[in-house]
Amino acid sequence: MSNNVKRKEQIVTIDGPSGVGKSTISRRVAASLSFTYLDTGAMYRAVGLQLLNSRVDLGDETAVRECLQKISLELLPATTEDDEVTVLLAGEDVSVAIRSQEMSMIASKVSALPAVREKLTAMQQEIGKKGQIVAEGRDTGTVVFPDAAWKFYLDADPGERMRRRAAQMRLAGKEVDEEELLQMIIKRDHDDQARTIAPLCKAEDATVIDTSVLSIDEVAAKMLAGIEPTPQ
Ligand code: DC
Repeated sequence: MSNNVKRKEQIVTIDGPSGVGKSTISRRVAASLSFTYLDTGAMYRAVGLQLLNSRVDLGDETAVRECLQKISLELLPATTEDDEVTVLLAGEDVSVAIRSQEMSMIASKVSALPAVREKLTAMQQEIGKKGQIVAEGRDTGTVVFPDAAWKFYLDADPGERMRRRAAQMRLAGKEVDEEELLQMIIKRDHDDQARTIAPLCKAEDATVIDTSVLSIDEVAAKMLAGIEPTPQ
């Protein structure tokens, strides 16, 4: 962790694979610090939905760039710590539509496209300019905010991540094929780690926390113990 916080940006980055509890923990940490929560994954999901709805051929870079130029994407901060951010695409609330399993795989696919990464990285850096942000994603500590003062990388065993996701899905009344879910988690991890631009990886100066055996409260407390924002 840096001792030279003044020269660093007042930004917390939380990266890691899907299902490690990043969103819940990020929202908790943001609420405790009164920082703004930036869900970068929601942005990749929204762009995936836009490209899908516009039937854009993902192999056609010009068409992808044209679609991105026209996109109107807005994130509205959650009103309570337990809510997801609201995502508006051309003014329409797509917050629920982007959370499906299908959209997870599409988001992972479009996130490998250079045009998509350029566009969203620039948007995220613009949002981060005013500081006091908790950014959650795959590359927030490595690429988007390399000068963030506090960086974390959360990890957990894939089987444990599958069980957590299965429990969430069952709570929502959905049927779960555990083996299929595990294979999807493993595939998404592989795709996110193997892409050439901004792959999922730990920033050199990030603190790693294994969330397999810790509760959300324990992880959040561990993180908050190391964060001392300076007054702005
Ligand atoms: O965090 P999530 O599951 O909502 O993210 C959806 C996908 O978006 C994920 O598979 C990879 C991609 N993503 C990314 O490439 N970079 C980020 N900073 C955040 C998400």
